[in-house]
Amino acid sequence: MLIYYLLIVALPNYLVFFNIINVIIFNERKKLTPYIKTLKSQQKTIGFIPTMGALHQGHISLVKASIAQNDYTIVSIFVNPTQFNNPEDLQKYPRTESEDVQLLTDYGCDFVYLPSTEDLYQPGEEAKKYDFNGLDLVMEGQFRPGHFDGVATIVSKLIKAVDPSRIYFGEKDFQQIRIVQEMAKQEGLDVEIVPMPIHRAENGLALSSRNTRLTPKNLDLSPQLYAILQQAVQQKKQGQNPAQVKQFVEQAIENSPFELEYFEITDEENLNTLHVFSDNIPARGFLAIYAGDIRLIDNIQF
Ligand code: PAF
Repeated sequence: MLIYYLLIVALPNYLVFFNIINVIIFNERKKLTPYIKTLKSQQKTIGFIPTMGALHQGHISLVKASIAQNDYTIVSIFVNPTQFNNPEDLQKYPRTESEDVQLLTDYGCDFVYLPSTEDLYQPGEEAKKYDFNGLDLVMEGQFRPGHFDGVATIVSKLIKAVDPSRIYFGEKDFQQIRIVQEMAKQEGLDVEIVPMPIHRAENGLALSSRNTRLTPKNLDLSPQLYAILQQAVQQKKQGQNPAQVKQFVEQAIENSPFELEYFEITDEENLNTLHVFSDNIPARGFLAIYAGDIRLIDNIQF
């Protein structure tokens, strides 16, 4: 037991501490899980940020929060095939593994989990089918059938592999957070889910790995999306009801270079369409558009 502890836990920590290695990389669940178990047996807290890589400052804001709130921080990088309903999107998803690991090292992340598909899925295994009580039937779930089954399947597997104290998600994917909360409740997973505010560029564009695929022209134009969402909030403040605000946004997108997929105003809890704004019901407006062939999403709290 002592030898195991010295080799598997103490030695890597020592190497990191003295900058001999910067971050400990795990490729296999069977090595990662016992390692974390040992740390947790010493009452250490583990903050976890699951990602699909192509990391940007949005991810780094989650890493920073985790470092501030936990003894150790781990990031997983895995482009999860079961959540892509469009094979071309999966194939073109940006993969920048060595830059990602360097960035995580620079920001003081302790561990990176870089699994192969085989480490997480059995051969031929598909996403588990969940009943999310309707949370998956609207917006992203409606336009990307099966997407949330894939997300919930992989997040469940990752939580079981990492066994974190806290798991961090950005509110740009607000519906994803509600899905993960529902999945964690149904599966009885003992983890604190920490939603973090959307991280925006100075011009307002919500940071996303997909932004790297925008043409320079669309990258210049895309801050318009946040401007439209902010105007929508102003409309509400001026007394417009959700249907009127929705019409305003639809019109504004029609006059923009983007193609609207949906704009919905829903309550935050059940993601049901909102008919009246009320101080007691937290609400959000959710937008999905195409900029050329790149799909972007954003949302704003009302
Ligand atoms: O938000 C993402 O990047 C992914 O959906 C997640 C949570 C890492 C699961 O693959």
